[in-house]
Formats: sequence, structure tokens, C-alpha cells
Amino acid sequence: MAQWLNEQYRWIRLLAWVGLLFSLPLQAEEAPSVASLPTLANLKVTSGAAPGYVDDHLCGTCHLSQWKSYQGVAMSHAFYRPSRERVIEDFAHAHYYHAPSQRHYEMRLEGDDYIFIRYQLDAAGQPINRFEHKVDWIMGSGRHVRTYLYQTESGELYQLPIAWYTQSGQWGMQPGFDRPDHNGVLRRIRRECLFCHNAYPEVPADSDNYLDEHRFPHQLPEGTGCQRCHGPGEQHLKLLLGGATDLEAIRSAIVNPRRLSRERRDDICYECHMLPAVATPPVRRFDRADFSFRPGQRLSDYALAFDIEERDHKTVDRFEINHHPFRLSQSRCVTESEPGALGCLDCHDPHVKVPVAERPAHYRKVCNSCHQGLDHPAVEGQALDDCVSCHMPTRRTHDVVQVLMTDHRIQKPLPEQERIGPRQEQDPHISNLHYLYPDQAPAGDLGEIYRMLAILRPSGGLPKSAIDYLEKLLKRTPVDSPIPYFDLVTFQLKDQRFSAALTTLDTIIERFGQSDLAKEWRAVALFGQGEEHATARALLEQLAAGGSERAEVWFNLGVMRYADDEYTAAEESLRHALQLRPTLVRAWYFLGQVQQTQGAQQAAVTSYRTALELDPSDTRAYLGIINALEQVNAPEEAERYRRHGLQVADNPKLLAPPTPPSP
Ligand code: HEC
Ligand code: HEC
Ligand code: HEC
Ligand code: HEC
Ligand code: HEC
Ligand code: HEC
Ligand code: HEC
Repeated sequence: MAQWLNEQYRWIRLLAWVGLLFSLPLQAEEAPSVASLPTLANLKVTSGAAPGYVDDHLCGTCHLSQWKSYQGVAMSHAFYRPSRERVIEDFAHAHYYHAPSQRHYEMRLEGDDYIFIRYQLDAAGQPINRFEHKVDWIMGSGRHVRTYLYQTESGELYQLPIAWYTQSGQWGMQPGFDRPDHNGVLRRIRRECLFCHNAYPEVPADSDNYLDEHRFPHQLPEGTGCQRCHGPGEQHLKLLLGGATDLEAIRSAIVNPRRLSRERRDDICYECHMLPAVATPPVRRFDRADFSFRPGQRLSDYALAFDIEERDHKTVDRFEINHHPFRLSQSRCVTESEPGALGCLDCHDPHVKVPVAERPAHYRKVCNSCHQGLDHPAVEGQALDDCVSCHMPTRRTHDVVQVLMTDHRIQKPLPEQERIGPRQEQDPHISNLHYLYPDQAPAGDLGEIYRMLAILRPSGGLPKSAIDYLEKLLKRTPVDSPIPYFDLVTFQLKDQRFSAALTTLDTIIERFGQSDLAKEWRAVALFGQGEEHATARALLEQLAAGGSERAEVWFNLGVMRYADDEYTAAEESLRHALQLRPTLVRAWYFLGQVQQTQGAQQAAVTSYRTALELDPSDTRAYLGIINALEQVNAPEEAERYRRHGLQVADNPKLLAPPTPPSP
């Protein structure tokens, strides 16, 4: 204890000496206190994929002013647990009906919990296909919009289909969900999403590569903390807690963006803010894992950004929710000034939210640093001191049409209709894709391989000509990572080019050795070819025996065992698949099939019902439940599902009652 006090005292003296804001009263309840600092021996440091991080609260003990003001910046609240304290939604009117997909939504507040409910109404007006789940996480501060997530036991995260739109004070569909055939409750949240909205989670080393499963611990950091911009704090803290007095050493053990070159400084913001088109996210370099970017590095060594070309829109007409640097870079203020003359930090201290009343003067000062003495044309009846209200106004975004964001392309004022007029959600018609920074792109075929992946990954393998081109490129110029080859296999499998997929898998094994994924996909290709069923199954049996953690392995094995009439074994592997991924609708369907074959009709009804709760448009599940209900002598309930399915299933024709033979 004496030793501990002694150590505390040493750095307290140090802090007093360097004049940090040490005497500030600790007002905010959650403000960290000096007493909460650990000893050197007790300092908890992350290991795994993102090692060297400490609890961000610790930074606040010494850098209290940054810590406090940062709590007012949305970045610190980009990801968190729901709680009553943070409610901004209208729970008194939390029913929302989405006509195109014929689904009703409700959100209920119970204690600190948000309970999400989705159902449909049958012909008699009774609820059917009801899905209920607690909201586990909220993504997005809610200045503009909140996204709700649930997490499965196995750690997967899923996005729920409704959102709260703060600016209009309304519930509505998530972006991308305002259509008849949206993903419902089955849209997975991947690491990329968390990369931008949160501090790095603690996950095992080598579990965040492109081909790895997207599972997350049940304890996650909450919000984009200090170290996403300052880098891992371990060394900085070890020096301080150890009583070091060499200020230069203390400083250089942590990244201060101010001391970096302009490019590296910008890259800290751009890792999350530079997204030319939400439709085509950047592609990670093959040798970089998702949580491997560190402040101070060049972003282009980590990921490659692309911009889209559209047939019906010019680039300058596109405006999205995450377009701040992209739009700023199109301003004449930037293009006609020295490089770096106007960047994020000229207008934003990232730790501070500028109060509304101070905004005109705060931003005008920046404008005037270049436009001082401007003979501004008169604007009828209006004062000119709030430059940004006219030249950087809020504007309706094209990707999230309920939301207004600040357009960072500084320009002459746009007509009102163009700026905030109502818009419909629309997919872009992408005609081509090019590198945002051609000079940072890999040269030659390697550059083309990345570019093809940027095209093919979001579309899942379209256009087909791009698959051919990728195949040709990889033949001509071998790459020393299996990633693009595995990508090629997925596109080939999706396009049912089974023998081409087998050839690619041969190349993978030849060049990179045998792997579980290569075995798994060989099994899928062989099964697809319809010939070597036994070989395919043997491969999957092997993976299952080795304790595979992939739901796909267990599901595919279940289907093959079912095809071989081995029902007990089939049921076992389907259940295993559902443990790993309870949202696997097809596994519930096949489980129902297996149960029916075994005479367990009532259990089958439950399985099909679960499938329909997850996906109320799944035609096969309707066929299954109708049949099973008839078997258990519940013809009325069967008819209820048939009539409902005719209204909402993705292939209602299959549900039509057989037409009586014509006389
Ligand atoms: C025990 C007190 C203490 C803690 C905890 C602490 N720092 Fe520091 N930090 C210091 C001192 C002392 C300096 C040097 C002050 C100076 O340069 O005037 C410093 C300097 C810095 C600098 C400026 C470096 C430079 O090059 O100018 C940054 C950035 C910084 N700290 C970030 C952090 C972050 C992020 C954390 C949490 C991971 C953190 N600090 C935790 C005491 C602390
Ligand atoms: C790890 C990802 C990440 C990094 C790095 C990052 N941002 Fe952000 N930033 C976000 C996210 C996510 C939001 C939106 C948070 C929300 O509202 O949910 C945001 C919001 C903001 C806001 C709006 C804050 C508010 O309260 O209105 C500003 C300004 C901003 N960022 C500037 C910057 C600057 C400048 C940098 C570089 C120094 C930077 N950001 C680096 C992810 C990041
Ligand atoms: C490339 C980084 C990046 C990725 C990937 C990303 N976001 Fe964001 N997101 C941002 C930034 C930056 C903003 C900030 C704009 C702003 O100021 O609100 C934002 C804003 C938001 C907001 C609005 C917050 C608010 O109220 O302003 C929500 C909700 C959101 N994102 C959800 C998601 C979800 C869900 C995903 C994954 C499917 C996702 N984001 C993926 C960077 C990203
Ligand atoms: C979005 C990125 C971002 C986040 C998050 C962030 N900082 Fe910073 N920080 C910066 C930048 C950029 C600078 C350099 C600012 C400048 O000099 O204008 C900086 C500078 C600092 C400095 C040095 C101040 C000085 O005067 O030299 C300290 C200390 C610091 N940050 C602490 C923190 C702490 C503590 C947190 C978390 C509560 C935090 N930062 C979160 C981007 C960030
Ligand atoms: C780094 C210097 C710099 C800063 C800071 C700057 N500008 Fe500019 N701005 C320019 C230059 C250079 C041009 C192009 C030549 C000209 O018109 O003077 C320009 C052009 C403009 C134009 C004409 C745009 C067009 O498309 O015709 C407007 C409007 C404008 N600036 C407004 C602003 C406002 C408002 C701010 C503050 C938010 C600002 N500028 C900050 C340098 C700057
Ligand atoms: C010329 C000044 C200026 C520059 C440079 C600038 N911003 Fe902003 N930014 C603003 C203004 C004005 C607002 C709206 C008022 C506010 O939030 O304070 C804003 C708001 C934001 C917001 C909040 C969401 C929104 O759209 O209202 C984000 C995020 C943001 N800026 C990110 C950035 C990033 C990242 C950069 C660097 C590429 C940057 N800004 C550069 C002036 C600027
Ligand atoms: C009430 C809205 C409004 C405000 C406030 C405003 N402007 Fe403008 N500004 C305009 C309009 C409208 C034009 C275009 C005039 C034209 O082209 O006839 C313009 C043009 C400009 C231009 C281009 C001048 C040229 O001759 O091409 C610059 C630069 C500019 N403004 C800077 C500023 C700065 C700096 C401030 C703040 C000190 C500011 N504006 C405040 C509306 C405004």
C-alpha cells in the first residue's frame, strides 16, 4: 500500500509540474477519479487482435478536460447499451406499420430494456409470425438516427429493421429496408461496422481476418474512445505509472496527431469518415486484419478506397451520410488552395462540440483566414456573418433519405428543393469503379484484382463478366494470399460453376496448403455437381469431427445426412448449426423436414413456425407448416397459414390450393 501511494504521489507531482488541469473539480458523476488509477502491476492491457489498449476511462484521469468535453461529442456515443437514461425515442407511439412488406413493428421499454416486436396480421386480423427480441446494442448516437442490434448466444450481431429518426421525431425503416423484400431481422453486422463505430473489441489474435467468422464478445467497449485516434496507450501508461519523468519519452509513447505529417493525420479521420459511396466500401489489403489499423500509419497500406461512376448522376451530385471529407475535397476552397490548407482540424477540435450559439463566429474565423476582405455580393435582407448557414448548410442525404447532414462541399447556395426536398430511397446504378487515390493503388494486375473484388463483393458476384476477368487476372498474376482465390470460389459457387470452383480450390491447396475452408467448399462444389456425394459428405464429417465452428459446415452436413436417410444424425447436425446461428432459417426448415420424416409432426410445426418468425416470406416454411398441421389434424390452422402465405410469401404460387380437374 505504501508503495502504491508512493507511486501515485510521484506522478501527481509530475502532473502538477507539467501544469495539467489537475485541480478541476470532478463534476460529472462518471468522471474518472485519480484514485481509480491502477498500479503498474494492476494495469489491464488488451491482448489478441488489437493488443496494447487500456481502458479509455484511464486517459480521463489525467486529461480531464479532453475527456469531459469528448463526452459531448457524438463519436464517444456511437455504440452503447440501451438504457432508460438514454431514451430519446417516443415509446408512447412506438407502433409502426410498413405496408410494402406488410409487417407491424413495436418497440417497448421495460426497465432499461428495449423490446423489439415484429408481427403480421392474418386474414382475421390476428397476429401471426411474431418475432420478439431484446435490443442488445444501439449503434449511432441518435443525433440523426439510431440503429438497434441484437446479439445471439454465439456472439453474432444482427441489425433490426426499424430506426428512430431524431430530426423528424419518427420511427421508420432502416436505410435499405424500405422495400417489400428487405432482410428483416436477418441482416448481419460485420466487423467493418464496428470498426467505424467503436473502440476495438478484445478478440483473439488472428480472428479478424477477412475469411474469419464475424462473432463478438458479449462485453464490448462503448463508443469510439481516445485510443482510436491516439493509438494503444499501454506504453504511455506504463511509463507514467512507473514514475518516469522524461516528458519526451512520455509524449512519444502516445500518438499526437498534431505531430504527424498531414497525410497521416488526415488518415486518422479518414479511416472512418472517408467513404465515397456507401455501396462500395473500401477493400482491406490482403495482408491486413480488420482491427490492425493504428494511428500514424498510412491508411492506403491498410485499405483501398474506391469511388463509383453512375450512368445517371455526376459525382458532384451525390451526397451521403458519411461524406464529410469526400465532399470537402470537392470544394474550390480546397482544390484551389495549397494542399492541406483546409482540413478537418481547421474547423473541428475532435474533443469538442461547438455550442450552437458559438458556431457562426467559430466557423467564420476559418473562412476569413482565406476570404478576409472579400467584397461579398449583397444577399437580400440577410446578414452575412453566419457563413456556413448559407455555404455549408444541412442537406438531405441520398442514402438515408430521412436525414439531413452538413454538406462539406463549400459552394454557392443550392436551391431549397435540391437541398432538402423529399427523396425516395434508390439504389445507385453503378457503371464503373475507380480508385479514389490512383497514386496509392497497387500497380498492374494486382490493382485490377482489388478493383474486381470491390465490384464483386458487395453484389455477391455480379456482373458475371467481372468473375471471368478476376479468374483471368489470378491465372496471369498469382497473388501470395489465398483471400482473392477464396473470393473467386464463392463467386463461382454462387454462379454454379462447380468445376471451375474445384479448379480454383486445387490452386489454393497447391499454393497455400490444405485448409478447413478449402475442404468445406470442395464439399459444396462436389455436392453441387451432384456426382460425388459420398466424398462431399466425408469431407464435412471430417470437419465436424474436428469441432468446426462454422454453422455452414453443420448445416450442409445435416442436409447431406438427411439425403442419406440418416435422420438422427441429420437432426444432430442441424441443431448444432442452429446453436451456432439460431437465425439460420433453412436449418429450421430442414429440421422440420427431418422431424416430419421421423413422425414428430408437432415438433416440426414448431420448427417451421420458428422459420416463419425469422422470415415471414419463406415459401418452403409455409409448405412445411401447412403439411405438418394437416398431419396433426389442425386443418383450420393449416388453412390460416396457407391464406396468409398467399398474401406474403416470396413465391405464393406454390401455396395455391390444387385446382380441381375441369369437368
Ligand atoms: C497518469 C496520467 C496520464 C494518463 C493516465 C494518461 N496520460 Fe497522456 N499524458 C500525460 C502526461 C504527463 C503527458 C505529457 C504532458 C505534456 O506533454 O505536457 C501526456 C501527454 C499526452 C499526449 C500528448 C503527446 C504529445 O506528443 O504531445 C496525448 C495525445 C496523450 N497524453 C493521450 C493520452 C491517452 C489517449 C491516454 C489514455 C490511454 C493518456 N494520455 C493517459 C499523463 C497521462
Ligand atoms: C473510429 C472511427 C472514427 C474516427 C477515427 C474518427 N471518427 Fe469522427 N465520427 C465517427 C462516427 C462513427 C461518428 C458518428 C457518431 C454517431 O453520431 O453515432 C463521428 C462523428 C464525428 C463528428 C460529429 C460529432 C458531433 O457530435 O456532432 C465530427 C465533427 C467528427 N466525427 C470528426 C472527426 C475528426 C476530425 C476525426 C479525425 C481527427 C475523426 N472524426 C475520427 C467515427 C470516427
Ligand atoms: C466507414 C466507416 C463506417 C461504417 C463501415 C459504418 N459507419 Fe455508420 N457512420 C459512420 C460515420 C463517420 C457516421 C457519422 C456521420 C454523422 O456525423 O452522423 C456514421 C453515422 C451512422 C449513424 C447515424 C448516427 C447519427 O445519429 O448521426 C448510424 C445509425 C450508423 N452510422 C449505423 C451504421 C451501421 C448499422 C453500420 C454497419 C452496417 C455502419 N454505420 C457502418 C461511419 C461508418
Ligand atoms: C477523433 C479523434 C480523437 C479522439 C477520439 C481523441 N482525440 Fe485527443 N487529439 C486528437 C487530435 C487530432 C489531437 C491534436 C489536436 C491539435 O493539436 O489540434 C489531439 C490531441 C490530444 C492531446 C494533446 C493536447 C495538446 O494540447 O497537445 C491530448 C492530451 C488528447 N488529445 C487526449 C485525448 C483524450 C483523453 C481522449 C479521450 C477522451 C482523446 N484525446 C480523444 C484526436 C482525438
Ligand atoms: C484555405 C483557404 C480557404 C478557406 C479556409 C476557405 N476558402 Fe472558400 N475558397 C478558397 C479559394 C482559393 C476559392 C476559389 C477562388 C475564389 O473564389 O476565391 C474559394 C471559393 C469559395 C467559394 C466559391 C465556391 C464556388 O464553387 O464557386 C465560396 C462560396 C467559398 N469559398 C466560401 C467559403 C466559406 C463559407 C468558408 C468557410 C466555411 C471558406 N470558403 C473557407 C479558399 C478558402
Ligand atoms: C470549413 C469548416 C469545416 C471543415 C474543414 C470540416 N467541417 Fe465538419 N462541420 C462543419 C460545420 C459547419 C458543421 C455543422 C455544425 C456543427 O456540427 O458544428 C460540421 C459538422 C460535421 C459533422 C457532424 C455531422 C453533420 O454532417 O452535421 C461531422 C461528422 C463532420 N463535420 C466531420 C468532418 C470531417 C471528418 C472533416 C474533415 C474532412 C470536417 N468535418 C471538416 C465545418 C467543417
Ligand atoms: C445569407 C446567405 C449567405 C451568407 C450568410 C454568406 N454568403 Fe457567401 N454567398 C452567398 C451567395 C448567394 C453567393 C453567390 C452570389 C452570386 O453568385 O451572385 C455567395 C458567394 C460567396 C463567395 C463567392 C464570391 C464570388 O464572387 O464568387 C464567397 C467566397 C463567399 N460567398 C464567402 C462567404 C463568406 C466568407 C461568408 C461569411 C463571412 C459568407 N459568404 C456568407 C450567400 C451567403
